[in-house]
Amino acid sequence: MERYWIRGGERLQGELQLQGAKNSALPILAAALLVRGVSEIRRCPRLSDTKRTMEILKHLGCHVSEEEGTVTVDASQPVRCEVPEELMRSMRSSIIFLGPLLARCGQARLSYPGGCELGPRPIDLHLSALRQMGAQIEETGGYLQCRAPGGLSGADIVLSFPSVGATENILLAAAAAQGVTRVTNAAREPEIVDLAQFLTRCGARVSGAGEGEITVEGVPELHGASHEVMGDRIAAATYLVASAVTGGRLKLSGVRPGSLAAMLPVMEKSGCSFQVRGEELRMEAPRRLSALGTVRTMPYPGFPTDAQAPFLAMALTASGTSVFVENIFESRYKHVSELLRMGGRVEVQGRVAVVEGVPRLCGAGVAATELRGGAALVLAALAAEGESSISGVQFIDRGYENLEGFLTQLGARIKRVPCDEKSQE
Ligand code: UD1
Repeated sequence: MERYWIRGGERLQGELQLQGAKNSALPILAAALLVRGVSEIRRCPRLSDTKRTMEILKHLGCHVSEEEGTVTVDASQPVRCEVPEELMRSMRSSIIFLGPLLARCGQARLSYPGGCELGPRPIDLHLSALRQMGAQIEETGGYLQCRAPGGLSGADIVLSFPSVGATENILLAAAAAQGVTRVTNAAREPEIVDLAQFLTRCGARVSGAGEGEITVEGVPELHGASHEVMGDRIAAATYLVASAVTGGRLKLSGVRPGSLAAMLPVMEKSGCSFQVRGEELRMEAPRRLSALGTVRTMPYPGFPTDAQAPFLAMALTASGTSVFVENIFESRYKHVSELLRMGGRVEVQGRVAVVEGVPRLCGAGVAATELRGGAALVLAALAAEGESSISGVQFIDRGYENLEGFLTQLGARIKRVPCDEKSQE
């Protein structure tokens, strides 16, 4: 087990090349299972979650290799249609294999991914959509036993909530199903567009991705293709906040500024200024940030729930009161109790968190219990006076490639050390 040691108070400035998006790479890797041939996925972030997804592909019989951020998947001949419980449970997004497995093999046996650290995360929308497409799904003993004896067929699916994962599962199943699938109230996240672009490169017929209604015309076979994963908008937000809370300046390359549209105005409100040129974004922060106003998480194009924790860390030292309303997940303020240990003033009531900005935070020993909340602890530690120790680094590794390396490059004093090692600088 490892932890981060951080001495806060350094101004973070410099340049960064942004990692590929975790939430694009995972469904795109799963999509490679549909391809009767070789897919090349470039700019695939090196994360524990992508590693586990590659393990699932290998278990299913694909040949998978990785070199300098390019993952090659040869899915000419998958041999299995079940994913072991240990791999399913390691990551909620493993459910994304259900659609491709059913479409490719006509059957699938997966354990239920279960609840997680953000509160209950049901998969009813995934299952009901696949049932409408002809899948027979039995839920017994924590397992999903799924068959599509006659193959999957297109359907008109109306989602009661624009779930990202359900939309992706439907796209993946529909790309290789018979006939036309129409998804109404589809998720519009940029990662859905990225997935649709990969599928289109492989010969799928997808239109409307990024809009509320997506149409997919199934094709008999998908062929191999090469695709570059989009930049990670949540990692981008995290690095921007890291620099902003230390009064710094940052140039980010490889980012689609449009994908940050809901987040940049909040940072501007706090006094940060931006210059955009193509896929390059420059930010300059004031000496002290101002309050962020009210931030409400919403499906895209609203403010992303994944950026709530990093922005809450930003509000801790801003002057004035900021309010957060978490509308996507029930239990997404677990980082708050740890932030209080660093001197933050935050009150949580249900889905609302009120943050009274304080002039300074002080370093403390804290524990990360999930990915974005863990990132928030790192951000607060960078802004704090003195030393912090953050355990639970394995959660942060799920979504950030070489976090300590990039932060060090910007001037932070951060080290990854074994949990039982006392050593500091
Ligand atoms: C994806 C992202 C995650 C992000 C989330 C919301 C990936 C790998 N993960 O997760 O980082 O926080 O989108 O932007 O891309 N729901 C149901 N029934 C379902 C499915 C979802 O009730 O069948 C509910 C969930 O409990 C949650 C909400 O819908 O409250 C949003 O979930 P969803 O959009 O599906 O998120 P994920 O795809 O799991």
